[in-house]
Amino acid sequence: GGAQAPLSRFEPYEYLEDRYRAMEERLRVVRRRLKRPLTVAEKILYGHLYDPETADIRRGESYLRLRPDRVAMQDGTGQMIMLQFMSSGLPASRAPATIHCDHLIVGTTSPQPDRGSKYGGEHDLSAAVEANREVYDFLSTAGSKYGVGFWRPGSGIIHQVLLENYALPGLLMIGADSHTPNAGGLATLAVGVGGADAVDVMAGLPWELKAPRVVGVRLTGELNGWTSPKDVILKVAGLLGAKGGTGCVLEYFGPGLASLGATGMATIANMGAEVGATSSLFPLTARMGDYLEATGRAAAARLAEGFSEHLVADSGAEYDRVYDIDLSSLEPHVNGPFTPDLAHPLSAFREQVDRAGWPRALSAALIGSCTNSSYQDMARAAAVARQALDAGLRARVPFTVSPGSEAVRATLARDGLLAPLEALGGTLLSNSCGPCIGQWKRTDVAKGQPNSILTSFNRNVPARNDGNPGTHAFVASPELVTAFALAGDLRFDPTRDSLTAPDGSEVRLRPPDGDELPSRGFESGAAGYQAPPASDAERSSLRVSVDLASQRLQLLRPFAPWDGRDVEDAAVLIKVKGRCTTDHISMAGPWLKYRGHLDNISNNMLVGAVNAVTGQGNLVRNVLTGEEGTVPATARSYQSAGVPWVVIGDENYGEGSSREHAALEPRHLGGRAVIARSFARIHETNLKKQGLLPLTFAEPSDYDLVSPADRLSIRGLTAFAPGVPLVLEGRRPDGSSYRLTVNHTFNDNQINWFRHGSALNAMAVEFRA
Ligand code: F3S
Repeated sequence: GGAQAPLSRFEPYEYLEDRYRAMEERLRVVRRRLKRPLTVAEKILYGHLYDPETADIRRGESYLRLRPDRVAMQDGTGQMIMLQFMSSGLPASRAPATIHCDHLIVGTTSPQPDRGSKYGGEHDLSAAVEANREVYDFLSTAGSKYGVGFWRPGSGIIHQVLLENYALPGLLMIGADSHTPNAGGLATLAVGVGGADAVDVMAGLPWELKAPRVVGVRLTGELNGWTSPKDVILKVAGLLGAKGGTGCVLEYFGPGLASLGATGMATIANMGAEVGATSSLFPLTARMGDYLEATGRAAAARLAEGFSEHLVADSGAEYDRVYDIDLSSLEPHVNGPFTPDLAHPLSAFREQVDRAGWPRALSAALIGSCTNSSYQDMARAAAVARQALDAGLRARVPFTVSPGSEAVRATLARDGLLAPLEALGGTLLSNSCGPCIGQWKRTDVAKGQPNSILTSFNRNVPARNDGNPGTHAFVASPELVTAFALAGDLRFDPTRDSLTAPDGSEVRLRPPDGDELPSRGFESGAAGYQAPPASDAERSSLRVSVDLASQRLQLLRPFAPWDGRDVEDAAVLIKVKGRCTTDHISMAGPWLKYRGHLDNISNNMLVGAVNAVTGQGNLVRNVLTGEEGTVPATARSYQSAGVPWVVIGDENYGEGSSREHAALEPRHLGGRAVIARSFARIHETNLKKQGLLPLTFAEPSDYDLVSPADRLSIRGLTAFAPGVPLVLEGRRPDGSSYRLTVNHTFNDNQINWFRHGSALNAMAVEFRA
């Protein structure tokens, strides 16, 4: 009974009640089977199993088939996701999904800490709308046609918009962006995935995830003084290291939770990505209810409250490891440079700066981003700014403010919290990623020049913010960054040092206070949301906007189904030696502008891989012509000659990321198989999804037997079956031949993908039937 809680105010026909009911049902089954107390992460995951009766559930071991509640994507990853989804022929996404335009807006800053008319968010936004018009038009029309909500450029950063509108306790969400776990601040289990996973869930396929281990972080004590939620995760990063969370969900608990608001918890969950965690999660707390109410979701807050036994850990729940953090004694931290796990308590930072010889003068200070632009963050930064203004102080270095959403920006503006930041000399950037993702046009520092910047962002790997490997990026809380902007010096410590005001007086900053939530509620600001038409008829009459001459976008045609025959006489495009990550297979950087154009981006295929024969990159011999050429050009030459080709890979082929382009490109250029010593599992699955054959040498040393001059046939495809090896027949240039056994890990379902040419084709056939 009672009022129903919609999944969001934009999705009035989807109810949280239904999700909870289904979750409860599945959990009942799982509990009967496991007979042990569960963590919150386990409750949410196992409560979303496709097959709770039969699923193999072993943390860190088995693979779970899950049914996420929603999907999110940004304007970078969203291009290929929507293109792939369109090629499936399905009429609309089967899971609630949204697109967020945040990654393509360039923030331009003045070399001085005061603003000129050509700087700031409005200017940046209109320049981006101009420069990216075709991408925005495509995403907007594709969203409308396929039932996906579209958030316009300027509406905000994906994770902040998700937190404000879509994250709800107990939901399982995937997002094509690594900081999706931000929603863990509202007890949503949220995981950053590759585009292929997003497409699957939109197409109604199960999402596969290795059952994560669960690492507990017990918080005691109470935050105080300059210490903020950011410092909790900066401390955790130091404890776990950049890879320490791999395969794990970090689950927080303990009495210290009481001093954290939902947005503070979101900051902590967001940056779990910096230790490689699958996700980070908080149990339901009363403060989450406050945030849900403040963001117009009182009904959901009440419902979650009534469901709370499933949203907190059982007593005696077992964690794989537990870390302890006492918030009362936790110091403010500054982490970096170049890696987020180089953690320095503020009291030790100055000495470390001297010892390491990092550039002492700060060249810029940047606050906001998806990680740290909550009302509380900005209120605390504004509290620092007000103290400085009262003393006549200004920022001594360029200082930027990136609001996470239009709602936050408008609310901060209404409550007078932006004015002090701007009066300090701050530039208000657009509600977008900007400098956080390298979309930063700065003119004050030459490329390669060593310099130090301080941000409240999350990732500080070399060249991330400004493309300059000489930039030493440090991360800290927004209030600390604001204080440092006043000093302009990395050796400053606001808890110990004073600043000299223009009148010569010494000013000591007091620890900032800031309200967690706006007492007058949130403003909505300029409308940034475009809903897809509700009716099937209306949607099906829409046209998706793609210019045939576009260099950035290209419609995908479904890949051809299997021809029913073995692979005959394939050329070896390249025999790869050593590490071959998805970045070697499909390089990022400048290529990202073609991520929506498969043919153009395919010109980067395998250019980073090392040729086992020559030790060189991107140079192979064409077996048809005898000439040397680049890998992509040689693949195209085979393709136009109608000659199938394969790749020979080494150990752990395709490690690194879930980038789907690394599987789409070889398929697009006529590749049939990758035969390796071993595969990284996600890439192996991605190859299967695109209709390629990932195969492994039964005898790993057989790798040495195959020469790139050989022609290879793959036998046994007509009897392709799970667990039955295939045969690789090699013919050498001298006419001699060999036969090798090659293994595969296809199951029946995946063999069906292969037969239809791709997982999407198989899905579409099933849908039409
Ligand atoms: Fe954007 Fe940076 Fe967050 S790129 S999504 S603001 S981590």
